[in-house]
Amino acid sequence: MTNKLFFTFEGPEGAGKTTVLKLVVNKLQEEGRKVVATREPGGSVIAEEIRQVILNPAHTEMDPKTEALLYAAARSQHFVEKIEPALKQGKVVLCDRFIDSSLAYQGIGRGLGIAGVKSINQFAIGDRMPDMTILFDLNPEIGLARINEHKDREVNRLDVESLTFHERVRDAYLKLAEEFPERIQVIDASQPLEVVFQDVWKVLKNAL
Ligand code: TYD
Repeated sequence: MTNKLFFTFEGPEGAGKTTVLKLVVNKLQEEGRKVVATREPGGSVIAEEIRQVILNPAHTEMDPKTEALLYAAARSQHFVEKIEPALKQGKVVLCDRFIDSSLAYQGIGRGLGIAGVKSINQFAIGDRMPDMTILFDLNPEIGLARINEHKDREVNRLDVESLTFHERVRDAYLKLAEEFPERIQVIDASQPLEVVFQDVWKVLKNAL
């Protein structure tokens, strides 16, 4: 069996995935592994420009389908330009959000349906799914309270959605985890950061 290389970190706002991702990168580098850490939407020059359009809080009139297509467009560019080449070179790729964000936020949160969002994403990236996805599961009430404490964080168009929207997103993630238990590992992100990190590290070490 080939080793897993392509890892994605998913979950709601305020679940700590970005912080844990940085800790994991450090630890992997200490072990001498070649690691590429990246994020979505963004991760390459063009995709970061698309990010500005999608997340601009002033763009309140953006249609949900436009939003889903822009995430998929950014993903396509990011994938061919950065993720695929890194995987071909045998590097470990850690990506902060990927296709499951689109399935959960646009497919269920925005109500576009999983099938449609999946199909535009297949057009964008083909069948290349992450080898493993770590889902930081957290009650959105806790997540939103956490991000409100961090006033220096950029507030985007999705952060300001209702609690009901974020609850739908959480349920969608958990359903995806049930559907793909061999790919998606659920971590309890309500625990202290150090414990969350240890849980993630255990899962990753087993997979690498
Ligand atoms: P970001 O500031 O990176 O948030 P976070 O720290 O929570 O990851 O903003 C990304 C936002 O975009 C976040 O609210 C989730 C949303 N998103 C989607 O709705 N669909 C997607 O496909 C992706 C990648 C992100």
